[in-house]
Amino acid sequence: MKPDFLWGVATSAFQLEGSVHADWAAWDPVLQSKPDVTHHYHLFREDLKLLKELGVNAYRFSVEWSRIQPEEDRWNDEAIQHYQEIVRILRQNNIEPMVTLHHFTNPRWFFERYPWHEVHSVSKFLSYVEKVASVLKDVRYWITINEPYVLLLGGYLEGCMPPGIQNFQSFLKALEHLLRSHQEAYDLLHSIRKDAMVSIAHNMATFAPCQKWNPFDRLLSRFAQFFYNHSLLDAFLTGRLKIKFPFVRSIEMDVPIKGKLDFFGVNYYTRIHLRFNPLRKMGVELKHKDVERQGVSDMGWEIHPHGLERVLREVSKLRIPIIITENGIATDDDGKKEKFIKSHVDVIEGCLKKQIDVRGYFYWSLLDNYEWLRGFDARFGLYRVDYDTLKRKPTVAAAFYSYIIKSRSIF
Ligand code: FCB
Repeated sequence: MKPDFLWGVATSAFQLEGSVHADWAAWDPVLQSKPDVTHHYHLFREDLKLLKELGVNAYRFSVEWSRIQPEEDRWNDEAIQHYQEIVRILRQNNIEPMVTLHHFTNPRWFFERYPWHEVHSVSKFLSYVEKVASVLKDVRYWITINEPYVLLLGGYLEGCMPPGIQNFQSFLKALEHLLRSHQEAYDLLHSIRKDAMVSIAHNMATFAPCQKWNPFDRLLSRFAQFFYNHSLLDAFLTGRLKIKFPFVRSIEMDVPIKGKLDFFGVNYYTRIHLRFNPLRKMGVELKHKDVERQGVSDMGWEIHPHGLERVLREVSKLRIPIIITENGIATDDDGKKEKFIKSHVDVIEGCLKKQIDVRGYFYWSLLDNYEWLRGFDARFGLYRVDYDTLKRKPTVAAAFYSYIIKSRSIF
């Protein structure tokens, strides 16, 4: 990899710090026992030293909106200075910061008064973005919104994430507002810093029919591939979003995001098998199968490094640089973690040889953390967290990742 390849790790504020003012804090009872999760908010200086120890040259983290703006009409200077201090430490250590503005959580006041399907959500989000951009001028790389589709499917169709709605019309409204927020944030960040590098982080997967011979399974997997991976890519290319779900009428709408990207952030974890099941919503059942005997993670997700190549090929139609903004595995087994990292980095190296323009890789995650629907037992970290003593302990995979970074970089 070239010397300017971004080798990093990714985290999100709420998953490490918690926040009493965030919607998720009240949403998930599991958090009551560990509201400060890893206590990273207070231990951040020590945790940032781990980045140096790893030898990464980039770090993706998020700022927690509900800490910065705990009430609608109140900015919290202490929180602002806190995130400024993180950026200062990173710059001092030659580590490129990549800041995520929205990583699933919202302040409670926003969730109660202006959730994403409400029209004022966009202006409320924008005033927060304006605040953050004006105080973090030293940041060049931005992710506006992490995994808009996961947020929408979880929050507006499945109802398993806040605001816990199951309504297609609200889903569409929220989708429209999230994409408009991205566009407005994109323009704003560029008005503050001409050389800003702005993207979303898009969760992508590969899809396969559960039973190859079953035409319904095959059809579902084509729908999924188109909706989950391509519809957003195409919207960035054309300014038009087309959504086709099985058994419901297709939707088309203009979205103001054409070309509003400087790179494309991909979060890739797994392959999903689809089975037609008339008893399920839209007839879809999701399955994880260990088809190639590479194993599954503690989340049950199939380890499927080759899917990353397929996804990167799909993204390359945008003809802009690609950064893998998340890729990782939840496991207690360090050997499995090492193998996971190596096999995915190998795929990236292969893609670079095929002229796919990948500019960075961020392993998820630096530390074990709160994993939304799974609580505290999914161990994604390169450093293990003991939630009783708050001690951080390197896994063998931490040293291995350092070795990968050193051995794969050309100086
Ligand atoms: C992604 C999320 C991230 C983390 C990983 C495991 O979908 O962006 O916060 O939970 O999954």
